[in-house]
Amino acid sequence: MHLFATTLVFLQAALAVVGRPKNAPGSVMARPDQYNNATTQLCEDRFRYHPNGPRPPHPNHRDGKVNMGYFVNWGIYARNFQPQDIDVSKLTHILYAFADTDPTTGAAMLTDLYADQEKHYDGDSWVEPGTNLYGAMKQMYLLKQANRGLKTLLSFGGWTYSQAGHLNFVTDPTARATFISTAITLLEDNGFDGIDIDYEYPSSVEQGVGFASLLAELRIALDAHAASKGDTVPYQITAAVSAGYSGYQYLPIAAMDDTLTYWNLMAYDYSGSWSTVSDDHANLFPGKTTTGFSTNASIQYYLGQGASKSKMVMGTPLYGHGFANTDGIRKPFSGVGAGSWEDGIWDYKDLPRPYSTVTEERDSVAAYCYNATTRLLVSYDTPKVVARKAAYVNQNDLAGTMHWELSADKKGADSLVLTSGKTLGKLDKTKNHLSYPGSKFDNIRSQMGTVVTTTTTTSTSTPTPPSSMSTSTAQTSAPPTTESILVAGKALDKE
Ligand SMILES: *[C@@H]1O[C@H](CO)[C@@H](O)[C@H](O)[C@H]1NC(C)=O
Ligand SMILES: *[C@@H]1O[C@H](CO)[C@@H](O)[C@H](O)[C@H]1NC(C)=O
Ligand SMILES: *[C@@H]1O[C@H](CO)[C@@H](O)[C@H](O)[C@H]1NC(C)=O
Repeated sequence: MHLFATTLVFLQAALAVVGRPKNAPGSVMARPDQYNNATTQLCEDRFRYHPNGPRPPHPNHRDGKVNMGYFVNWGIYARNFQPQDIDVSKLTHILYAFADTDPTTGAAMLTDLYADQEKHYDGDSWVEPGTNLYGAMKQMYLLKQANRGLKTLLSFGGWTYSQAGHLNFVTDPTARATFISTAITLLEDNGFDGIDIDYEYPSSVEQGVGFASLLAELRIALDAHAASKGDTVPYQITAAVSAGYSGYQYLPIAAMDDTLTYWNLMAYDYSGSWSTVSDDHANLFPGKTTTGFSTNASIQYYLGQGASKSKMVMGTPLYGHGFANTDGIRKPFSGVGAGSWEDGIWDYKDLPRPYSTVTEERDSVAAYCYNATTRLLVSYDTPKVVARKAAYVNQNDLAGTMHWELSADKKGADSLVLTSGKTLGKLDKTKNHLSYPGSKFDNIRSQMGTVVTTTTTTSTSTPTPPSSMSTSTAQTSAPPTTESILVAGKALDKE
């Protein structure tokens, strides 16, 4: 997403519309912000004629604020950030990034089977019989068992897997149907609570309408899936969406709002290598910034177009953008300097840079570190900035915050995820799902051995304690079929 994402898009935007300060000389020649009124209207109308629309809005039923974090499956390698390293104490959702799609058929697929399903962690058996889930996805399930308020969503797309038109299949109803059935299979097999789609970016009316149709059809299919399992807790759908005009211009926002559980606004990358001066990259308000972007303005845009406040989630960056050879903030720069994993991008945990001075801007609600000798400036969020953003979420009755991405956070009091969670106050504790009777994995069907799976539908077996997992698996050495019933699983989910 999120990093490379923006280079082109915001370059475009900066040149085109939003980057132009309202009262600057020459602004008269700017394209009006609302020039696409007609386009937006067209999206809405066309969507309304879709066989599946309009539908009653899908409420999100949360009982507190949400605090979401992206877990990236490549984080288990060089970054050595494992699922066990996630501090879930203030998290309500983990967005598991990324899964991919076949651009022709729409088929959903995983991107790294070793990371997702195969890596053995402490406690994983090499000898247990059957077909079992390991890897980071099994760890997600264990986190859910230990934290019943924690929801996990499988995230599709992102900048990388939006390339080469990977999500443009949304204009094809057959491909949408394929995506939906295969994505739900991945959800059921691997034990997720929903689907997140990060489509960067629909670039025509047809793609915007196709995306909204995909979400609407996915909503129907997930509700049917829940009903087929006797599940009363809805599966969730989120979309990571752009804070910049060129990224959101084709989104039929009101129609999407009916089907989404949450909007995750990617409220960062407002400045970077493509900019002409160093500047804040995730400022809440305009302040003195020159980019023309502010999170407040983006949120107001979405709300004005029909997004529900109760579904609006503000993204915050757990990384900074570097600007090299600069005399300070909003000054020309040359190059972006080094970074934690790529040039110009620093993990929050590597910030501030040594021997630099941190400045927190009150008006824009943003921060940066700078050293006049090294002349390196890095724009990033400090705990104070994030606390202020979370307070804004509270003041405006928004749903919560989202963070990209968890491996880059600090621990303890300096953690931005924890700071956000604390400021938001009461967090959503509605229950996740544990029952996946249709999973192809024995250990997911048996809820890690906490329930007995059986091929008879009249079984009254008592639940098997967790310690006897391998015993219970051995008892059903014939692969259980989808008729398996989870005796205690139902009870657990309904408690
Ligand atoms: C069109 O733009 C104007 C000016 O910003 C705004 O007041 C109006 O609500 C917009 N109409 C639609 C349908 O978005
Ligand atoms: C935030 O956005 C609202 C709506 O556009 C606007 O009225 C308000 O002035 C903005 N706040 C700041 C500090 O820019
Ligand atoms: C800037 O960094 C250099 C080392 O690169 C250090 O010697 C100097 O004290 C720093 N300046 C400030 C103001 O901290």
